[in-house]
Amino acid sequence: MKTNNKKIALVTGGSKRIGASICEELHKSNVDVMIHYRNSKENAVYLKDKLNKIRVNSTDIVQGDLCKIDSYENIISNVIKRFGQLDYLVNNASSYFPTQLNALNESDWNDLISTNLKAPLFLCQAAAKFLKEQKGSIVNITDAKENNPKKNYIIYNIAKSGLVSLTRSLAIDLAPDVRVNAVAPGAILWPENNQESEAGYRENIISQTFLKKQGVPKNIAKAVVFLLTAATYSTGAVIHVDGGSTHK
Ligand SMILES: NC(=O)c1ccc[n+]([C@@H]2O[C@H](COP(=O)([O-])OP(=O)(O)OC[C@H]3O[C@@H](n4cnc5c(N)ncnc54)[C@H](OP(=O)(O)O)[C@@H]3O)[C@@H](O)[C@H]2O)c1
Repeated sequence: MKTNNKKIALVTGGSKRIGASICEELHKSNVDVMIHYRNSKENAVYLKDKLNKIRVNSTDIVQGDLCKIDSYENIISNVIKRFGQLDYLVNNASSYFPTQLNALNESDWNDLISTNLKAPLFLCQAAAKFLKEQKGSIVNITDAKENNPKKNYIIYNIAKSGLVSLTRSLAIDLAPDVRVNAVAPGAILWPENNQESEAGYRENIISQTFLKKQGVPKNIAKAVVFLLTAATYSTGAVIHVDGGSTHK
């Protein structure tokens, strides 16, 4: 383990929305950040410049399509080349779209399983050696619906349930050096492609929370930072940040 006080995080899908909030909140906690993106280069560069203005040379970006197996090693080796170490890995990137049983196909399977399940596993595999050196920590972003499948989202449901199982398996396999936990968001931001926008749908989701309101990205980011940096006796845990909707 290196003796400096510097901490380095990799956040997948970190250029915007919840991922960007996680990057900002980690950065506020004095963690330097590698922002991973696939298509959103403009957002990634904007966030990098913003964070580097706050702390010089504290942030960089790395591109990679998480459906491609060779991207995993490449992303991790870019972090090591740039920062020399890796302390925290946040598996946040995700694809999300409905897949009805009578219409779904292998391409849907490959996309949803790759981004939500395969990439977290293989990124952890590629990062394990470096995280062990640092006694680091991993957070996987799952979904509050993990045990309560959402109609017509069969592949996404499978992927996010698998990610909870992966979290617990890795907590065992990487112990005692690396802690592995998950954050399960409820309704935080609606999808960008306007799915789930039909009248009454969103109101119905919000009515199912105990707190009767939608969350904000910072709610997720703060839980992630807590698990990565402060929850030193937690591993294999899932924190639900969902306004109570899981218990409804
Ligand atoms: N939003 C919510 O209310 C909510 C609710 C429950 C769970 N969650 C979970 O919370 C996390 C963040 O949610 P979000 O809504 O902010 O996510 P999002 O905007 O839907 O996706 C985050 C990023 O994932 C990246 N991504 C998608 N496919 C990729 C691929 N093949 N390779 C590499 N990157 C890929 C995209 O990067 P580029 O833009 O660079 O292509 C995208 O910006 C996700 O894991 C999601 O499942 C969110």
